[in-house]
Amino acid sequence: MEALALEGDAGKQLVELARDGRLRDHWARPASLCELPRPVDDFTGRAAELAWTSELECAESVVSLITGSGGMGKTTLAVRAAHALRPSFPGGVFFVDLLGMSPRPATAADTLWLLLRTLGVADEEIPDDAGERASVYRSLLRDRHALVVLDNAGSEEEEQVRPLLPGDGASRALITARRLLAGLEGVRRLALGPHSPSEATELLAGILGVRAARDQESALHQLAELSEGMPLALRIIGNRLVSRPGWDAAALVARLADEEHRLDQFKAGDLKIATAFGMSYEQLSDTAQRVFRRLAVVPESDFDAALAAVVGEVPMEVAWDALDELVDLGLLMDSVAGRYRFHDLVRLFARLRLEAAESPAEREALTARAAQAYATQS
Ligand SMILES: Nc1ncnc2c1ncn2[C@@H]1O[C@H](COP(=O)(O)OP(=O)(O)OP(=O)(O)O)[C@@H](O)[C@H]1O
Ligand SMILES: [Mg+2]
Repeated sequence: MEALALEGDAGKQLVELARDGRLRDHWARPASLCELPRPVDDFTGRAAELAWTSELECAESVVSLITGSGGMGKTTLAVRAAHALRPSFPGGVFFVDLLGMSPRPATAADTLWLLLRTLGVADEEIPDDAGERASVYRSLLRDRHALVVLDNAGSEEEEQVRPLLPGDGASRALITARRLLAGLEGVRRLALGPHSPSEATELLAGILGVRAARDQESALHQLAELSEGMPLALRIIGNRLVSRPGWDAAALVARLADEEHRLDQFKAGDLKIATAFGMSYEQLSDTAQRVFRRLAVVPESDFDAALAAVVGEVPMEVAWDALDELVDLGLLMDSVAGRYRFHDLVRLFARLRLEAAESPAEREALTARAAQAYATQS
C-alpha cells in the first residue's frame, strides 16, 4: 500500500476491493482434491531424514511412516520430500489429511472417495461399499506409479489407514502420525526428533531473515534452547520477533522465562510451546485475542471468517483482520478455500485462555451460538 502511495479513501477502497476479490475467490474456488500443499520456503536441516525419504521409491516396503510428537515437523518433512519425489512418481503425488488428532478423524470410506475422484473415477461410479472402494483403489494404483501421502493418521487400530495403502506394484505410501501405529507390519519407520541446537538456531535465523544479524548470537542460541529444538515452537518464537521489530531476541528470552511460570497447566512436554503461544497471544489486539480464544469452542476442525465473526461478535472485516493477524503469528493455519484451522496444541491453549477470560455461562452461550452458526452454514 505504501509502495503504491495511495492515501485515505483510495487506499481504503483498494483494500476493500482486494478483500472482495479474496472473498469471491474463496467461494468460487473448489477445494482441490488431494493436492500437495506448498513446501515451506525456509526449510532447514533434516539431511539424514531427507535421505531416508529419498529412498522411499526403491525401498522394498510399500509403506514409509514418519512418527513424532506434535509440532515436530512431520508434515513439513513429508511435504518437502513428496515435492522432491515428484519426478519419480509420474502416476501422481497425492496428499490427504486424515485429521487423526481431531474429534472427527476422516474415515477410510470418505478418504477413498476423495482419492478415487482424484484418480479420475466419476462420482456415480464410486461404489457405496467401503471394501469395494478399497479394491477399485488398489487396482488403479497397481497400474500406476503414484505416491500417496497420508498425513496425520490417528486411529489406534490402524483401520483408518490400512484400506488406503497400495498393494503390490510401484505405488508407495508415506504416512505421518503421532502414534507409532504398531499394528502396521512391513513398514519402514522414521522417528522424527527435535532439531540439534545448531540446526535449531539456523532455523530461527532463517525465519528472522536479515534481522537475525541484529540480534545477539547468544540470545538466538538461548531461544533455540528454550524451544528444545521443536520446529513449531521455533516458528512461533521467530514470527513473534519478526512481527515486533522493536523487540530483540535478548528481551524475548527474559519474557519467555517469565511466561513459563504462568503456564503450568500444560504437561511438561508441551510447556515450551505454550510459552511460545503465550508470547504471541499477548501481542494481539483485544479483538484478535477475543476471536482467537473463542474459536476454541468451534466443534469442527476448520472454520471460515463468517464463523469467526459470529463467535467473536465482530463485523466480517474485523474478523478478516483478526484471522490475518493470527495466521501471521502462526497461531492459526490457513487451509484451502478461505478456511482456517488450529494446530491442536494451539486450540488447547486457546481453550485455557477462554476459561481464564470468560465465565462458564458466557462459554455455554458461545458454544451454542457456534454450533448454530455452523449448522446454518453447512
Ligand atoms: N525443517 C523445517 N524447517 C523449517 N520449518 C519447519 C521445519 N520443520 C517444521 N517446521 C515448521 O514447524 C511447524 C510445525 O511443523 P509440522 O506442522 O510439520 O509439525 P507436525 O509434526 O506435522 O505436527 P502435528 O503432529 O501437529 O501434525 C510448521 O510451522 C513448520 O513450518
Ligand atoms: Mg502434521
